[in-house]
Amino acid sequence: MLQYVAVTLVTLTIGIYWYITRTFSYWKDRNVVTPEPTPLFGNLKEAALRRKNLGLVFEEIYKQFPNEKVVGVYRMTTPCLMIRDLDIIKHVMIKDFDLFTDRGVEFSKEGLGANLFHADGELWRALRNKFTPIFTTSKLKNMLYLMTDRGDKFVQYIESLKNPEHEIHGLVQKYTMATIAACAFGLDFDNMGDKLAILKKVDQMVLTPNFAFEIDMMFPGILKKFNSSLFPRFVTDFFFNMVRQIITERNNTPSNRKDFMDLLLELRNKGQVQSTNKNNEAEKQTVAITDGIIAAQAFVFYVGGYETSATTMSFLLYQLALNPDVQDKLIAEIDEVITKYNGQVTYECLTDMVYLDKVFKETLRMYSIVEPLQRNAVTDYKVPGTDVVLRKGQTVLVSPRGIHHDPSLYPEPEKFDPERFSVENSANRHPCAYMPFGVGPRNCIGMRFAQTQSRVCIAKLLSKFRIEPSKNTKREMEYEPKRLLIGPAGGIYLNIVKRN
Ligand code: HEM
Repeated sequence: MLQYVAVTLVTLTIGIYWYITRTFSYWKDRNVVTPEPTPLFGNLKEAALRRKNLGLVFEEIYKQFPNEKVVGVYRMTTPCLMIRDLDIIKHVMIKDFDLFTDRGVEFSKEGLGANLFHADGELWRALRNKFTPIFTTSKLKNMLYLMTDRGDKFVQYIESLKNPEHEIHGLVQKYTMATIAACAFGLDFDNMGDKLAILKKVDQMVLTPNFAFEIDMMFPGILKKFNSSLFPRFVTDFFFNMVRQIITERNNTPSNRKDFMDLLLELRNKGQVQSTNKNNEAEKQTVAITDGIIAAQAFVFYVGGYETSATTMSFLLYQLALNPDVQDKLIAEIDEVITKYNGQVTYECLTDMVYLDKVFKETLRMYSIVEPLQRNAVTDYKVPGTDVVLRKGQTVLVSPRGIHHDPSLYPEPEKFDPERFSVENSANRHPCAYMPFGVGPRNCIGMRFAQTQSRVCIAKLLSKFRIEPSKNTKREMEYEPKRLLIGPAGGIYLNIVKRN
Protein backbone atom coordinates (compact mmCIF):
# COMPACT_ATOMS: atom_id res chain seq x y z
CA MET A 1 0.00 0.00 0.00
CA LEU A 2 2.81 2.37 1.05
CA GLN A 3 4.67 1.54 -2.15
CA TYR A 4 1.57 2.29 -4.19
CA VAL A 5 1.16 5.70 -2.49
CA ALA A 6 4.86 6.49 -3.00
CA VAL A 7 4.74 5.63 -6.72
CA THR A 8 1.59 7.71 -7.14
CA LEU A 9 3.19 10.67 -5.35
CA VAL A 10 6.39 10.47 -7.41
CA THR A 11 4.41 10.17 -10.66
CA LEU A 12 2.23 13.09 -9.65
CA THR A 13 5.26 15.23 -8.73
CA ILE A 14 6.96 14.43 -12.05
CA GLY A 15 3.69 15.14 -13.89
CA ILE A 16 3.22 18.50 -12.17
CA TYR A 17 6.87 19.44 -12.70
CA TRP A 18 6.57 18.53 -16.38
CA TYR A 19 3.40 20.61 -16.68
CA ILE A 20 4.84 23.74 -15.07
CA THR A 21 8.04 23.64 -17.14
CA ARG A 22 6.73 22.04 -20.36
CA THR A 23 7.07 25.16 -22.50
CA PHE A 24 10.49 26.29 -21.30
CA SER A 25 12.41 25.13 -24.36
CA TYR A 26 10.15 27.11 -26.70
CA TRP A 27 12.53 30.06 -27.21
CA LYS A 28 15.72 27.99 -27.07
CA ASP A 29 14.34 25.86 -29.92
CA ARG A 30 13.93 29.05 -31.94
CA ASN A 31 17.38 30.48 -31.07
CA VAL A 32 15.92 33.34 -29.10
CA VAL A 33 17.67 34.35 -25.86
CA THR A 34 15.64 34.30 -22.68
CA PRO A 35 16.28 34.83 -18.96
CA GLU A 36 16.33 31.54 -17.02
CA PRO A 37 12.71 30.69 -16.20
CA THR A 38 11.52 29.38 -12.82
CA PRO A 39 9.05 26.47 -12.76
CA LEU A 40 5.44 27.73 -12.84
CA PHE A 41 6.36 31.43 -12.69
CA GLY A 42 8.51 31.61 -15.82
CA ASN A 43 10.25 35.00 -15.66
CA LEU A 44 7.66 36.63 -13.44
CA LYS A 45 8.44 35.04 -10.07
CA GLU A 46 9.24 38.30 -8.27
CA ALA A 47 6.08 39.97 -9.57
CA ALA A 48 3.82 36.97 -9.00
CA LEU A 49 5.01 36.73 -5.39
CA ARG A 50 4.36 40.49 -5.11
CA ARG A 51 7.96 41.21 -4.22
CA LYS A 52 8.55 43.52 -7.19
CA ASN A 53 6.35 45.64 -9.43
CA LEU A 54 5.60 43.83 -12.70
CA GLY A 55 6.80 46.83 -14.73
CA LEU A 56 10.21 46.75 -13.04
CA VAL A 57 10.56 43.05 -13.79
CA PHE A 58 10.15 43.83 -17.49
CA GLU A 59 12.61 46.73 -17.26
CA GLU A 60 15.20 44.33 -15.79
CA ILE A 61 14.65 41.83 -18.60
CA TYR A 62 15.16 44.66 -21.11
CA LYS A 63 18.44 45.65 -19.42
CA GLN A 64 19.71 42.10 -19.17
CA PHE A 65 20.12 41.76 -22.96
CA PRO A 66 21.57 45.07 -24.26
CA ASN A 67 22.58 43.61 -27.64
CA GLU A 68 19.41 41.74 -28.55
CA LYS A 69 16.61 42.84 -30.85
CA VAL A 70 14.12 40.49 -29.24
CA VAL A 71 14.07 38.48 -26.01
CA GLY A 72 11.91 35.47 -25.21
CA VAL A 73 9.88 35.87 -22.01
CA TYR A 74 7.79 33.31 -20.17
CA ARG A 75 4.79 34.93 -18.56
CA MET A 76 4.19 32.10 -16.12
CA THR A 77 4.41 29.20 -18.58
CA THR A 78 3.32 31.12 -21.68
CA PRO A 79 6.04 32.10 -24.20
CA CYS A 80 5.79 35.77 -25.23
CA LEU A 81 8.24 38.00 -27.08
CA MET A 82 9.79 41.20 -25.75
CA ILE A 83 10.82 43.55 -28.52
CA ARG A 84 13.82 45.76 -27.77
CA ASP A 85 14.66 47.03 -31.25
CA LEU A 86 13.01 50.38 -31.99
CA ASP A 87 12.47 49.68 -35.71
CA ILE A 88 10.72 46.40 -34.95
CA ILE A 89 8.59 48.18 -32.34
CA LYS A 90 7.65 50.70 -35.02
CA HIS A 91 6.57 47.86 -37.32
CA VAL A 92 4.42 46.15 -34.71
CA MET A 93 2.88 49.18 -33.04
CA ILE A 94 2.50 51.48 -36.06
CA LYS A 95 3.17 50.15 -39.58
CA ASP A 96 1.63 46.70 -39.13
CA PHE A 97 -0.84 47.79 -36.47
CA ASP A 98 -3.75 46.13 -38.29
CA LEU A 99 -2.14 42.80 -37.38
CA PHE A 100 -1.72 43.84 -33.72
CA THR A 101 -4.93 45.65 -32.80
CA ASP A 102 -5.58 43.56 -29.70
CA ARG A 103 -4.03 44.26 -26.30
CA GLY A 104 -4.95 40.77 -25.14
CA VAL A 105 -6.41 41.70 -21.76
CA GLU A 106 -10.08 41.38 -22.68
CA PHE A 107 -12.09 39.59 -20.01
CA SER A 108 -15.68 40.16 -21.12
CA LYS A 109 -17.62 41.99 -23.82
CA GLU A 110 -20.28 42.86 -21.27
CA GLY A 111 -20.50 44.96 -18.13
CA LEU A 112 -17.36 46.92 -17.26
CA GLY A 113 -15.42 44.66 -19.65
CA ALA A 114 -16.76 46.67 -22.60
CA ASN A 115 -14.32 49.47 -21.88
CA LEU A 116 -11.80 50.89 -24.29
CA PHE A 117 -8.68 49.65 -22.48
CA HIS A 118 -9.73 46.02 -22.09
CA ALA A 119 -11.84 45.59 -25.25
CA ASP A 120 -10.32 43.89 -28.28
CA GLY A 121 -11.29 43.20 -31.90
CA GLU A 122 -14.25 44.92 -33.50
CA LEU A 123 -15.64 46.14 -30.18
CA TRP A 124 -12.42 48.07 -29.58
CA ARG A 125 -12.43 49.48 -33.14
CA ALA A 126 -16.01 50.69 -32.76
CA LEU A 127 -15.37 52.23 -29.34
CA ARG A 128 -12.10 53.92 -30.31
CA ASN A 129 -13.63 55.27 -33.48
CA LYS A 130 -16.44 56.93 -31.57
CA PHE A 131 -14.63 58.04 -28.45
CA THR A 132 -11.64 59.67 -30.14
CA PRO A 133 -13.59 62.89 -30.90
CA ILE A 134 -14.35 63.23 -27.17
CA PHE A 135 -10.67 63.96 -26.52
CA THR A 136 -10.02 66.67 -29.10
CA THR A 137 -8.42 70.00 -28.15
CA SER A 138 -11.70 71.88 -28.56
CA LYS A 139 -13.54 69.48 -26.20
CA LEU A 140 -10.66 69.79 -23.76
CA LYS A 141 -10.80 73.58 -23.91
CA ASN A 142 -14.50 73.40 -22.99
CA MET A 143 -13.62 71.32 -19.94
CA LEU A 144 -10.71 73.49 -18.80
CA TYR A 145 -12.88 75.55 -16.43
CA LEU A 146 -13.61 72.36 -14.48
CA MET A 147 -9.86 71.80 -14.04
CA THR A 148 -8.88 75.38 -13.17
CA ASP A 149 -11.71 75.57 -10.64
CA ARG A 150 -10.45 72.36 -8.95
CA GLY A 151 -6.89 73.71 -9.16
CA ASP A 152 -7.91 76.88 -7.27
CA LYS A 153 -9.69 74.84 -4.62
CA PHE A 154 -6.67 72.57 -4.27
CA VAL A 155 -4.36 75.55 -3.68
CA GLN A 156 -6.80 76.99 -1.13
CA TYR A 157 -6.86 73.62 0.62
CA ILE A 158 -3.05 73.56 0.86
CA GLU A 159 -3.05 77.13 2.15
CA SER A 160 -5.35 76.03 4.96
CA LEU A 161 -2.92 73.33 6.15
CA LYS A 162 -0.51 74.24 8.96
CA ASN A 163 2.25 71.66 8.62
CA PRO A 164 4.47 72.18 5.52
CA GLU A 165 5.32 68.48 5.22
CA HIS A 166 2.94 66.36 3.13
CA GLU A 167 2.74 62.92 1.66
CA ILE A 168 2.55 64.33 -1.83
CA HIS A 169 1.01 61.38 -3.68
CA GLY A 170 -2.07 61.25 -1.42
CA LEU A 171 -2.32 65.03 -1.56
CA VAL A 172 -2.22 65.31 -5.36
CA GLN A 173 -4.75 62.46 -5.62
CA LYS A 174 -7.26 64.84 -4.04
CA TYR A 175 -6.89 67.18 -7.01
CA THR A 176 -6.97 64.51 -9.73
CA MET A 177 -9.90 62.71 -8.14
CA ALA A 178 -11.83 65.99 -7.95
CA THR A 179 -10.96 66.82 -11.58
CA ILE A 180 -11.83 63.45 -13.00
CA ALA A 181 -15.03 63.25 -10.95
CA ALA A 182 -16.03 66.63 -12.41
CA CYS A 183 -14.92 65.93 -15.99
CA ALA A 184 -16.07 62.32 -16.24
CA PHE A 185 -19.22 62.27 -14.13
CA GLY A 186 -20.12 65.90 -13.56
CA LEU A 187 -19.78 65.38 -9.82
CA ASP A 188 -18.63 67.99 -7.36
CA PHE A 189 -15.94 66.58 -5.11
CA ASP A 190 -17.14 68.65 -2.13
CA ASN A 191 -20.60 67.08 -2.30
CA MET A 192 -19.58 63.52 -3.09
CA GLY A 193 -19.63 62.21 0.49
CA ASP A 194 -20.13 58.45 0.37
CA LYS A 195 -19.09 58.22 -3.30
CA LEU A 196 -15.59 59.36 -2.40
CA ALA A 197 -15.01 56.47 -0.02
CA ILE A 198 -16.27 54.05 -2.67
CA LEU A 199 -14.02 55.56 -5.34
CA LYS A 200 -11.03 54.99 -3.04
CA LYS A 201 -12.16 51.41 -2.55
CA VAL A 202 -12.53 51.03 -6.33
CA ASP A 203 -8.93 52.21 -6.64
CA GLN A 204 -7.75 49.45 -4.30
CA MET A 205 -9.78 46.77 -6.05
CA VAL A 206 -8.88 47.73 -9.58
CA LEU A 207 -5.23 48.71 -9.25
CA THR A 208 -4.06 45.98 -6.89
CA PRO A 209 -2.75 42.95 -8.80
CA ASN A 210 -5.16 40.07 -8.64
CA PHE A 211 -4.17 36.41 -9.15
CA ALA A 212 -6.70 36.29 -11.98
CA PHE A 213 -4.00 38.05 -14.05
CA GLU A 214 -1.48 35.28 -13.43
CA ILE A 215 -4.11 32.66 -14.28
CA ASP A 216 -4.91 34.49 -17.51
CA MET A 217 -1.18 34.69 -18.35
CA MET A 218 -0.89 30.96 -17.78
CA PHE A 219 -4.01 30.11 -19.78
CA PRO A 220 -4.33 33.04 -22.20
CA GLY A 221 -7.93 34.01 -22.86
CA ILE A 222 -9.43 31.99 -20.00
CA LEU A 223 -11.10 35.02 -18.41
CA LYS A 224 -12.72 35.90 -21.72
CA LYS A 225 -13.83 32.32 -22.27
CA PHE A 226 -15.70 32.31 -18.97
CA ASN A 227 -16.98 35.85 -19.56
CA SER A 228 -15.46 36.78 -16.23
CA SER A 229 -16.55 39.97 -14.49
CA LEU A 230 -13.00 40.43 -13.05
CA PHE A 231 -14.03 43.24 -10.70
CA PRO A 232 -16.24 42.66 -7.66
CA ARG A 233 -19.97 43.08 -8.17
CA PHE A 234 -20.18 46.27 -6.16
CA VAL A 235 -17.64 48.03 -8.42
CA THR A 236 -19.83 47.22 -11.43
CA ASP A 237 -23.01 48.21 -9.58
CA PHE A 238 -21.44 51.45 -8.40
CA PHE A 239 -20.58 52.64 -11.92
CA PHE A 240 -23.84 51.41 -13.47
CA ASN A 241 -25.98 53.04 -10.76
CA MET A 242 -24.04 56.27 -10.84
CA VAL A 243 -24.31 56.56 -14.61
CA ARG A 244 -28.07 55.80 -14.54
CA GLN A 245 -28.57 58.41 -11.83
CA ILE A 246 -26.68 61.08 -13.78
CA ILE A 247 -28.49 60.26 -17.02
CA THR A 248 -31.85 60.50 -15.27
CA GLU A 249 -30.86 63.80 -13.65
CA ARG A 250 -29.97 65.14 -17.11
CA ASN A 251 -33.21 63.87 -18.64
CA ASN A 252 -31.30 61.74 -21.13
CA THR A 253 -29.97 64.86 -22.85
CA PRO A 254 -26.63 66.64 -22.58
CA SER A 255 -26.61 69.40 -19.95
CA ASN A 256 -24.45 72.45 -20.40
CA ARG A 257 -21.52 71.17 -18.34
CA LYS A 258 -19.62 69.95 -21.41
CA ASP A 259 -18.12 67.06 -19.42
CA PHE A 260 -17.55 63.47 -20.65
CA MET A 261 -21.05 62.47 -19.60
CA ASP A 262 -22.55 65.16 -21.84
CA LEU A 263 -20.33 64.02 -24.71
CA LEU A 264 -21.32 60.38 -24.18
CA LEU A 265 -25.00 61.35 -24.12
CA GLU A 266 -24.55 63.31 -27.35
CA LEU A 267 -23.06 60.16 -28.91
CA ARG A 268 -25.87 58.00 -27.64
CA ASN A 269 -28.50 60.31 -29.05
CA LYS A 270 -26.84 60.00 -32.46
CA GLY A 271 -27.56 56.25 -32.37
CA GLN A 272 -25.33 53.22 -32.94
CA VAL A 273 -21.62 53.30 -33.68
CA GLN A 274 -19.85 51.14 -36.22
CA SER A 275 -16.33 49.78 -36.25
CA THR A 276 -14.07 50.66 -39.15
CA ASN A 277 -12.32 47.48 -40.22
CA LYS A 278 -10.54 48.43 -43.42
CA ASN A 279 -9.47 44.84 -44.02
CA ASN A 280 -12.63 42.96 -43.43
CA GLU A 281 -15.99 44.51 -44.25
CA ALA A 282 -17.81 41.38 -43.08
CA GLU A 283 -16.37 41.72 -39.60
CA LYS A 284 -17.61 45.26 -39.07
CA GLN A 285 -19.59 45.45 -35.88
CA THR A 286 -22.33 47.77 -34.75
CA VAL A 287 -22.33 48.83 -31.13
CA ALA A 288 -25.27 50.55 -29.50
CA ILE A 289 -24.32 53.19 -26.93
CA THR A 290 -26.26 51.76 -24.00
CA ASP A 291 -26.13 52.87 -20.38
CA GLY A 292 -23.78 49.89 -19.90
CA ILE A 293 -21.32 51.09 -22.56
CA ILE A 294 -21.40 54.56 -20.98
CA ALA A 295 -20.75 53.06 -17.52
CA ALA A 296 -17.80 51.02 -18.83
CA GLN A 297 -16.19 54.12 -20.35
CA ALA A 298 -16.89 56.22 -17.24
CA PHE A 299 -15.13 53.48 -15.30
CA VAL A 300 -12.03 53.46 -17.52
CA PHE A 301 -11.84 57.25 -17.74
CA TYR A 302 -11.95 57.35 -13.96
CA VAL A 303 -9.32 54.65 -13.40
CA GLY A 304 -7.12 55.78 -16.30
CA GLY A 305 -7.59 59.42 -15.49
CA TYR A 306 -6.92 60.00 -11.86
CA GLU A 307 -4.13 57.76 -10.59
CA THR A 308 -1.85 58.02 -13.62
CA SER A 309 -1.77 61.81 -13.42
CA ALA A 310 -1.49 61.85 -9.61
CA THR A 311 1.51 59.52 -9.70
CA THR A 312 3.19 61.47 -12.51
CA MET A 313 2.75 64.80 -10.72
CA SER A 314 4.12 63.31 -7.48
CA PHE A 315 7.28 62.20 -9.28
CA LEU A 316 7.51 65.61 -10.96
CA LEU A 317 7.29 67.47 -7.63
CA TYR A 318 9.82 65.07 -6.12
CA GLN A 319 12.32 65.88 -8.89
CA LEU A 320 11.69 69.62 -8.47
CA ALA A 321 12.54 69.31 -4.78
CA LEU A 322 15.79 67.51 -5.63
CA ASN A 323 16.67 69.93 -8.47
CA PRO A 324 16.13 73.51 -7.21
CA ASP A 325 17.69 75.03 -10.34
CA VAL A 326 15.04 73.33 -12.51
CA GLN A 327 12.36 74.53 -10.09
CA ASP A 328 13.64 78.14 -10.19
CA LYS A 329 13.51 78.15 -13.97
CA LEU A 330 10.04 76.64 -14.00
CA ILE A 331 8.67 79.12 -11.43
CA ALA A 332 10.13 82.01 -13.44
CA GLU A 333 8.35 80.74 -16.56
CA ILE A 334 5.04 80.19 -14.78
CA ASP A 335 5.12 83.73 -13.28
CA GLU A 336 5.99 85.30 -16.61
CA VAL A 337 3.39 83.44 -18.68
CA ILE A 338 0.56 83.88 -16.17
CA THR A 339 1.30 87.62 -16.02
CA LYS A 340 1.22 87.72 -19.83
CA TYR A 341 -2.29 86.20 -19.72
CA ASN A 342 -3.47 88.64 -17.01
CA GLY A 343 -3.55 85.95 -14.34
CA GLN A 344 -5.87 83.66 -16.35
CA VAL A 345 -4.78 80.03 -16.81
CA THR A 346 -6.25 79.56 -20.28
CA TYR A 347 -5.45 76.74 -22.71
CA GLU A 348 -3.15 79.06 -24.68
CA CYS A 349 -1.43 80.11 -21.46
CA LEU A 350 -0.67 76.45 -20.67
CA THR A 351 0.61 75.87 -24.21
CA ASP A 352 3.00 78.81 -23.77
CA MET A 353 4.65 77.11 -20.78
CA VAL A 354 7.25 75.30 -22.87
CA TYR A 355 9.64 74.58 -19.99
CA LEU A 356 6.78 73.01 -18.02
CA ASP A 357 6.20 70.76 -21.02
CA LYS A 358 9.86 69.68 -20.98
CA VAL A 359 9.76 69.02 -17.22
CA PHE A 360 6.57 66.95 -17.62
CA LYS A 361 8.08 64.92 -20.48
CA GLU A 362 11.33 64.29 -18.60
CA THR A 363 9.33 63.15 -15.57
CA LEU A 364 7.51 60.59 -17.71
CA ARG A 365 10.78 59.47 -19.25
CA MET A 366 12.26 58.73 -15.85
CA TYR A 367 9.04 57.43 -14.39
CA SER A 368 6.86 55.89 -17.09
CA ILE A 369 4.14 54.25 -15.07
CA VAL A 370 2.18 51.96 -17.42
CA GLU A 371 4.43 48.99 -18.15
CA PRO A 372 4.73 46.88 -20.24
CA LEU A 373 2.91 47.81 -23.44
CA GLN A 374 1.42 44.75 -25.01
CA ARG A 375 -0.19 43.62 -28.25
CA ASN A 376 -1.44 40.26 -29.50
CA ALA A 377 -0.73 39.05 -33.01
CA VAL A 378 -4.06 38.56 -34.79
CA THR A 379 -2.36 36.29 -37.30
CA ASP A 380 1.03 34.52 -37.73
CA TYR A 381 3.70 37.20 -38.24
CA LYS A 382 7.35 37.05 -39.23
CA VAL A 383 9.17 39.58 -37.08
CA PRO A 384 11.08 41.91 -39.47
CA GLY A 385 14.87 41.61 -39.32
CA THR A 386 14.75 38.31 -37.40
CA ASP A 387 13.93 34.64 -38.06
CA VAL A 388 11.22 34.63 -35.42
CA VAL A 389 7.64 33.88 -36.40
CA LEU A 390 5.00 34.93 -33.91
CA ARG A 391 2.02 32.63 -33.75
CA LYS A 392 -1.54 33.90 -33.96
CA GLY A 393 -2.63 35.05 -30.50
CA GLN A 394 0.93 35.30 -29.17
CA THR A 395 1.74 38.37 -27.07
CA VAL A 396 4.48 40.89 -27.78
CA LEU A 397 5.75 43.13 -25.00
CA VAL A 398 7.54 46.46 -25.02
CA SER A 399 9.25 48.03 -22.02
CA PRO A 400 9.03 51.86 -22.20
CA ARG A 401 10.95 52.06 -18.91
CA GLY A 402 13.76 49.91 -20.27
CA ILE A 403 13.97 52.10 -23.38
CA HIS A 404 13.73 55.36 -21.39
CA HIS A 405 16.61 54.28 -19.15
CA ASP A 406 18.80 52.90 -21.93
CA PRO A 407 22.10 54.86 -21.84
CA SER A 408 22.56 54.40 -25.58
CA LEU A 409 19.35 56.43 -26.10
CA TYR A 410 19.49 58.70 -23.04
CA PRO A 411 23.04 59.29 -21.71
CA GLU A 412 23.16 59.41 -17.89
CA PRO A 413 19.59 58.10 -17.70
CA GLU A 414 19.29 58.63 -13.93
CA LYS A 415 19.92 62.37 -14.31
CA PHE A 416 16.80 64.57 -14.42
CA ASP A 417 17.39 66.81 -17.41
CA PRO A 418 14.37 68.51 -19.05
CA GLU A 419 16.60 69.76 -21.89
CA ARG A 420 16.48 66.27 -23.37
CA PHE A 421 13.13 67.48 -24.69
CA SER A 422 14.27 70.72 -26.30
CA VAL A 423 13.19 71.03 -29.94
CA GLU A 424 16.72 70.23 -31.17
CA ASN A 425 17.21 67.21 -28.93
CA SER A 426 13.76 65.80 -29.74
CA ALA A 427 14.11 66.31 -33.50
CA ASN A 428 16.32 63.30 -34.20
CA ARG A 429 14.76 60.95 -31.70
CA HIS A 430 13.30 57.69 -32.98
CA PRO A 431 9.47 57.79 -32.75
CA CYS A 432 9.56 54.74 -30.49
CA ALA A 433 12.33 55.96 -28.18
CA TYR A 434 9.81 57.83 -26.04
CA MET A 435 6.45 56.28 -25.28
CA PRO A 436 5.06 56.87 -21.78
CA PHE A 437 1.61 57.09 -23.41
CA GLY A 438 2.21 54.11 -25.65
CA VAL A 439 2.46 54.44 -29.39
CA GLY A 440 0.46 53.97 -32.59
CA PRO A 441 -3.31 53.87 -33.09
CA ARG A 442 -3.83 52.16 -29.73
CA ASN A 443 -1.93 54.69 -27.65
CA CYS A 444 -3.41 56.51 -24.65
CA ILE A 445 -6.60 58.28 -25.67
CA GLY A 446 -6.40 60.52 -22.59
CA MET A 447 -2.89 61.86 -23.22
CA ARG A 448 -3.91 65.46 -23.84
CA PHE A 449 -6.37 65.36 -20.97
CA ALA A 450 -3.58 64.16 -18.66
CA GLN A 451 -1.16 66.83 -19.87
CA THR A 452 -3.70 69.61 -19.40
CA GLN A 453 -4.93 68.37 -16.02
CA SER A 454 -1.34 68.12 -14.75
CA ARG A 455 -0.19 71.47 -16.16
CA VAL A 456 -3.11 73.26 -14.51
CA CYS A 457 -2.24 71.77 -11.13
CA ILE A 458 1.52 72.39 -11.31
CA ALA A 459 1.11 75.95 -12.64
CA LYS A 460 -1.40 76.87 -9.92
CA LEU A 461 0.63 75.22 -7.17
CA LEU A 462 4.01 76.73 -8.09
CA SER A 463 2.57 80.19 -8.56
CA LYS A 464 2.03 80.18 -4.76
CA PHE A 465 4.44 77.59 -3.32
CA ARG A 466 7.92 76.09 -3.58
CA ILE A 467 8.61 72.41 -3.12
CA GLU A 468 11.49 71.38 -0.86
CA PRO A 469 12.84 68.12 0.51
CA SER A 470 11.67 67.34 4.04
CA LYS A 471 13.44 65.25 6.68
CA ASN A 472 11.50 62.23 5.40
CA THR A 473 12.31 62.62 1.70
CA LYS A 474 13.99 59.48 0.38
CA ARG A 475 16.99 59.95 -1.89
CA GLU A 476 16.34 56.65 -3.67
CA MET A 477 12.85 56.02 -5.03
CA GLU A 478 11.24 52.76 -3.95
CA TYR A 479 8.33 51.30 -5.87
CA GLU A 480 5.18 49.63 -4.65
CA PRO A 481 5.17 45.93 -5.65
CA LYS A 482 1.44 45.44 -5.01
CA ARG A 483 0.22 47.90 -7.61
CA LEU A 484 -0.53 47.56 -11.32
CA LEU A 485 0.87 51.02 -12.08
CA ILE A 486 4.42 51.92 -11.11
CA GLY A 487 4.02 54.15 -8.07
CA PRO A 488 6.06 55.12 -5.00
CA ALA A 489 6.21 52.70 -2.05
CA GLY A 490 5.44 54.33 1.29
CA GLY A 491 4.57 57.66 -0.34
CA ILE A 492 6.73 60.68 -1.17
CA TYR A 493 7.27 63.17 1.64
CA LEU A 494 8.02 66.78 0.71
CA ASN A 495 7.65 70.25 2.19
CA ILE A 496 5.32 72.68 0.46
CA VAL A 497 6.50 76.15 1.44
CA LYS A 498 4.72 79.43 0.71
CA ARG A 499 6.68 81.59 -1.74
CA ASN A 500 7.74 85.09 -0.67
C1 HEM B 1 0.05 60.68 -17.08
C2 HEM B 1 -1.09 60.11 -17.37
C3 HEM B 1 -1.29 58.89 -18.23
C4 HEM B 1 -0.38 57.97 -18.66
C5 HEM B 1 1.12 57.92 -18.38
C6 HEM B 1 -1.11 57.00 -19.46
C7 HEM B 1 -0.52 55.93 -20.11
C8 HEM B 1 -1.22 55.04 -20.91
C9 HEM B 1 -0.61 53.96 -21.63
C10 HEM B 1 0.89 53.64 -21.66
C11 HEM B 1 -1.60 53.31 -22.29
C12 HEM B 1 -1.40 52.07 -23.18
C13 HEM B 1 -1.04 52.57 -24.57
C14 HEM B 1 -0.56 51.49 -25.51
O1 HEM B 1 -0.84 50.31 -25.29
O2 HEM B 1 0.09 51.85 -26.52
C15 HEM B 1 -2.84 53.96 -22.00
C16 HEM B 1 -4.06 53.58 -22.51
C17 HEM B 1 -5.24 54.21 -22.17
N1 HEM B 1 -5.40 55.32 -21.38
FE1 HEM B 1 -3.92 56.40 -20.51
N2 HEM B 1 -2.42 57.35 -19.49
C18 HEM B 1 -2.59 58.50 -18.75
C19 HEM B 1 -3.76 59.20 -18.56
C20 HEM B 1 -5.00 58.84 -19.04
C21 HEM B 1 -6.22 59.60 -18.88
C22 HEM B 1 -6.30 60.96 -18.22
C23 HEM B 1 -7.23 58.86 -19.43
C24 HEM B 1 -8.71 59.18 -19.57
C25 HEM B 1 -9.31 60.24 -19.16
C26 HEM B 1 -6.64 57.65 -19.96
C27 HEM B 1 -7.34 56.65 -20.60
C28 HEM B 1 -6.74 55.61 -21.28
C29 HEM B 1 -7.50 54.64 -22.07
C30 HEM B 1 -9.01 54.60 -22.24
C31 HEM B 1 -6.56 53.77 -22.64
C32 HEM B 1 -6.84 52.61 -23.59
C33 HEM B 1 -6.80 53.14 -25.02
C34 HEM B 1 -7.10 52.07 -26.07
O3 HEM B 1 -6.80 50.90 -25.83
O4 HEM B 1 -7.63 52.43 -27.13
N3 HEM B 1 -5.29 57.66 -19.71
N4 HEM B 1 -2.58 55.03 -21.15
